[in-house]
Amino acid sequence: MPTREQLAEWDAADPLAACRARFDLPTDVIYLDGNSLGPLPHAVKASLRRTVEVEWARGLITSWNRHQWVDLPEIVGGKIARLIGAEADEVVAADSTSINLFKLIAGALALRSDRRVIVSVVDNFPTDLYVAGGLIQLLGQGHELRLVPVDALPAAIDPSVALVMLTEVDYRTGARHDMAAITAAAHAAGALMLWDLAHSAGAFPVALNAADVDLAVGCGYKFLNGGPGAPAFLFVAKRHQADFHPALTGWFGHAEPFAFAPGYTPANGIRRMLCGTPSVLALAALDAALDAFADIDLDLVREKSVRLADAFISLVESHCGSFDLRLASPRDTPRRGSQVSFRHEQAYPIMQALIARGVIGDVRTPDILRFGLAPLYLRFTDMWDAAMVLQDVLEREDWRRPEHQTRAKVI
Ligand SMILES: Cc1ncc(COP(=O)(O)O)c(C=O)c1O
Repeated sequence: MPTREQLAEWDAADPLAACRARFDLPTDVIYLDGNSLGPLPHAVKASLRRTVEVEWARGLITSWNRHQWVDLPEIVGGKIARLIGAEADEVVAADSTSINLFKLIAGALALRSDRRVIVSVVDNFPTDLYVAGGLIQLLGQGHELRLVPVDALPAAIDPSVALVMLTEVDYRTGARHDMAAITAAAHAAGALMLWDLAHSAGAFPVALNAADVDLAVGCGYKFLNGGPGAPAFLFVAKRHQADFHPALTGWFGHAEPFAFAPGYTPANGIRRMLCGTPSVLALAALDAALDAFADIDLDLVREKSVRLADAFISLVESHCGSFDLRLASPRDTPRRGSQVSFRHEQAYPIMQALIARGVIGDVRTPDILRFGLAPLYLRFTDMWDAAMVLQDVLEREDWRRPEHQTRAKVI
């Protein structure tokens, strides 16, 4: 278990330490929820001001061309592509993750029209499962959503499967799937593979093309720091683009939107995956937020994430071990994303007591305390300080206070 002095030495030697200054973080907070909503990058403030006051106010409608608003989905997609091991023309930023899931699942089922099964795990993020279920109902062609526990996944991927759909990092436990191995298993059965990168993009290097992945989606507001409700992204491997049928055939995915033709002809390439008018202010924010990653080596990000997590686990276990906290994340580092979760029966009030003391994480039902570790702005000493606050909250039983029992709408 490291001492605070050792952790301060690690901070002093940290090649990513200077990146913290890129973010507008409150000084009295240890922010361990960047896996849910990333903090505000300073660059976003300047970019939004420029977009609103110059491009919108002065440029008015001419800014669609003059300031490239029309190309923002591809410009932003290109920046995300570098972080997820894709080519720039395989990614666009648009819509929400849920809507992008709909587009990709629908297109995947059309590409495997002789098959009727979508495989996922019971613990996948609910929106992924809800969207797949809703689409199956809409299609009315007898598709089946086959949900299995993680360890039953290999057996569930058989030649009836059209699509395997998984979130790379489990939102509750932080457990990480083996992307290359599962994608290979899906392909061996003749299925397509769709990864949800909500908890991966910006947290560690992702290698979509190296793993031969077909399709992917992810959020802009988590580790990418694009702001609340930021546009999401989607990836379609180049080999599928020409045959990929956009289920949401809106005019921004048309080959010539401004020809105003009555019939729909999809654009060439990834642009066909767009639907309606891009959300320019939100894309401008995400675009500027991504610049925080422009000079960043994601291998360094991963290395620091692992050290942050290992330090936090050992500090919590040694200082809070007598309080019935159980590690919910894999101990084995390659199997872990960039978050650490613990189980406790009183997870909700404990987290409220932590937040009241300036240590912000979140909870997931039924009993998970989640701590997201974003290496661009967290310090090793934050791991010490957060663990000490947790110990104090548990020792003094702060969480028993009535104000920590009331459930808010968003947890
Ligand atoms: C794995 C995963 N997918 C999707 C989403 C959310 O999708 P949306 O942005 O459409 O609400 C989340 C949100 O936390 C998530 O964790």
